[in-house]
Amino acid sequence: MVNPLALNGLLTSLKKKTTTPLLKSINACFDWLDDDNLIPKEPLIDAPPSPVFFSGGRKLISFSSNNYLGMSRRPEVIKTAKKALSEYTMGTCESRKLGGNIALLEALEEKIARFKGEEAAMIFATGLLANVATIPGLMDAEWYCNKFYGKKWSQESGTIFSDALNHRSIQMGIRLSHANVVKYRHGDMAHLEQELANCKSSNKLIVSDGVFSMDGDLAPLPKLTKLASQYQATVMIDDAHGTGIFGKNGRGVAEHFGVENQVSIHMGTLSKAVGAMGGFVATDRKIIEFLKSTASGYRFTSSLPAEQAAGIICALEIMQKEPQLRQKLWRNVSQLLMGLHELNIPIKKQWSPIIPLFLGSAKKAYKAEKILLELGLSCIAVVPPLVENNCSRLRITINSTHTKEQIEQLLAGLKIVEKNIGFNMTDKSKQSWEEFKVTTPSYIIKT
Ligand SMILES: Cc1ncc(COP(=O)(O)O)c(C=O)c1O
Repeated sequence: MVNPLALNGLLTSLKKKTTTPLLKSINACFDWLDDDNLIPKEPLIDAPPSPVFFSGGRKLISFSSNNYLGMSRRPEVIKTAKKALSEYTMGTCESRKLGGNIALLEALEEKIARFKGEEAAMIFATGLLANVATIPGLMDAEWYCNKFYGKKWSQESGTIFSDALNHRSIQMGIRLSHANVVKYRHGDMAHLEQELANCKSSNKLIVSDGVFSMDGDLAPLPKLTKLASQYQATVMIDDAHGTGIFGKNGRGVAEHFGVENQVSIHMGTLSKAVGAMGGFVATDRKIIEFLKSTASGYRFTSSLPAEQAAGIICALEIMQKEPQLRQKLWRNVSQLLMGLHELNIPIKKQWSPIIPLFLGSAKKAYKAEKILLELGLSCIAVVPPLVENNCSRLRITINSTHTKEQIEQLLAGLKIVEKNIGFNMTDKSKQSWEEFKVTTPSYIIKT
């Protein structure tokens, strides 16, 4: 009998190859990157980490998962999602306005709005899509009325002020909008102020990650929101990594800094602390209704499946009922930071479950990743295009489900990396440990 896989391979190789200039150029770029081992592999895993998982027959402990509170594995969440799957079937197969609006989705939006303390919320299929849809949706309101209904407004395109290290999905949203863009230096409020002062637009939007995804640091929201109010700018915060983690009630970085009312547009993802998938925006009801009608990344795509919505509602309820999950997470973060400090490994002195350890070149980062992997520790190297050239690093993420012993194992592994390769200093590593400890928010419980 003919092996179907072999037959498939033969048919593919017989297929006439297209050799357009574009395809040739892509092939050349691929070969160039691949020759230098710069095309990262996608290791197969048995199931998402909890934080233990198996890959290639080996048992590993993950220190790279954004499943900060272990929600993706909670039996209650899985049971609820399974029930919704059998009741509502696999997909909605439609966008919300064209027949895909099941009650569970509206219930989830209501839940998120209450969680974020806003009038209303809307959900998107992914967090990336939430930014891609919302930013042009906000900035192109007048353009929309003109393009589709011939209504002439001032036709002012407005200006977006964006932190240089904002997540790629924010940058994608900005590129899709008709607005002018000003990129300010990462976290540099003096630079932001200078640009706001020079800006002639009346429609101004400041957009920033709440927790920067590759560096783990927080946007300086007290100063940022103060400038916004001074220059009448609207603030949008992408709190993908802050939602569920930061603040006394886990409402995010704006709660952490006590500036929730100064942030107009709260964006977040459901794929990290909530353990599922999807993105959301929470704000005033009228703005939500407007975005639901006009934002392409909402209207031109199918809605979130029912089982995700049901599982997320359950996860959000657990997260609110069990603050001990967050407390355990912060205790774990504290254990790792203190351990690294004792080993004299340069760390950024900041409270965050994202802990970057800098190595410089991509090659060094891959080497460090390999050393840890041989010790049964999975800690993914982060290299360009996720970070700038020569800023490659190990990006450690801590979860509430890590045990004390697992964190001790990681520390032993990092000690070996420090001895063999050596981590780089950063400006934030120079701050004194005592000074840093004083900045600990009261809701963070140390080891
Ligand atoms: C800051 C930030 N925004 C948005 C996203 C996109 O979220 P999702 O993975 O849910 O699409 C991510 C995910 O990496 C992120 O880190």
